[in-house]
Amino acid sequence: MDRSLVLELVRVTEAAAMAAARWMGRGEEKAADSAAVEAMRRSFDTIGFSGRVVIGEGERDEAPMLYIGEVVGGGGHLQVDIAVDPLEGTTICASGGPNSISVLAVAEKGNFLHAPDTYMQKIACGPGAKGAIDIEAPPADNVKRVAKALGKQIADVTVVILDRPRHQELIAEVRRTGARIRLIGDGDISAAIATCKEQTGVDLLLGIGGAPEGVIAAAAMRCIGGDMQGRLTPRNESEIERALTMGITDMNRIYSCEELAKGDVMFVATGVTTGDFLKGVRFSATGCHTTSVVMRSKTHTIRTVETDHYFQHKPAYSFN
Ligand code: FBP
Repeated sequence: MDRSLVLELVRVTEAAAMAAARWMGRGEEKAADSAAVEAMRRSFDTIGFSGRVVIGEGERDEAPMLYIGEVVGGGGHLQVDIAVDPLEGTTICASGGPNSISVLAVAEKGNFLHAPDTYMQKIACGPGAKGAIDIEAPPADNVKRVAKALGKQIADVTVVILDRPRHQELIAEVRRTGARIRLIGDGDISAAIATCKEQTGVDLLLGIGGAPEGVIAAAAMRCIGGDMQGRLTPRNESEIERALTMGITDMNRIYSCEELAKGDVMFVATGVTTGDFLKGVRFSATGCHTTSVVMRSKTHTIRTVETDHYFQHKPAYSFN
């Protein structure tokens, strides 16, 4: 994949973030998500490539745009697979909370796990603890291993966990180790990335979240050099059926980061609301300012892209 593609793709997450940010704090999750989806879809058409959505808004019959199997892009010889989450953290955006982002990842054809829309057990850590995590080991062991790898006291390790009733036992077990916990309402892609950024103070992600988000997070971890493992945790027979139709036969299989997102991958995200590693969209009298991150697994180059958008020259974004 041509490295310049990643700089084209940032326009796509910028467009989605700008559209979603208009809905920040307005309590309308669906409207925020639709705005992001529509802007992302439109923006893809301006790029000279042919992208097949493999992680998207759902199946064709349940999503009007960016559904799994949809081909996006302005055409051209370059064919890639795309994983999108136009608004990761719809509830966060609707309440004006931290860490909602617009995000996508791109890989060569066949290189993303075709994850069904079910749950995935996840464990993720930054480059400093790479190789120390094991999804099959008890949480307490993982906390100890990460503490050792990072040269920290257990009491100084911070574990990020989605605040869900299903995590009650996990939370209790981590608390028993003496480690600190950051409970988050939503957004475990951001949380996985946070483990790779020292300034966030987060060392380890544990728990069950969305499987599609797991694949996108793995793409990011590949680019930053972090570590992650995932195991599908379907909730019922119909989710198992769905996984089977997508070619997944072993529900207990543990996927490494490289198996979730193989080969050369690119990851792009733009902040919708301000969070751990990205600032949200800031509107002004003339337009707005966005902050994005673009990265590639091949070089591990991480670029922060700060962009001023002037609505006078971009009427499509003015929303007036
Ligand atoms: P949305 O972007 O669809 O709102 O997902 C947010 C999220 O918190 C993900 O980050 C996470 O993987 C998933 O939802 C967890 O699912 P659930 O809310 O059902 O526990």
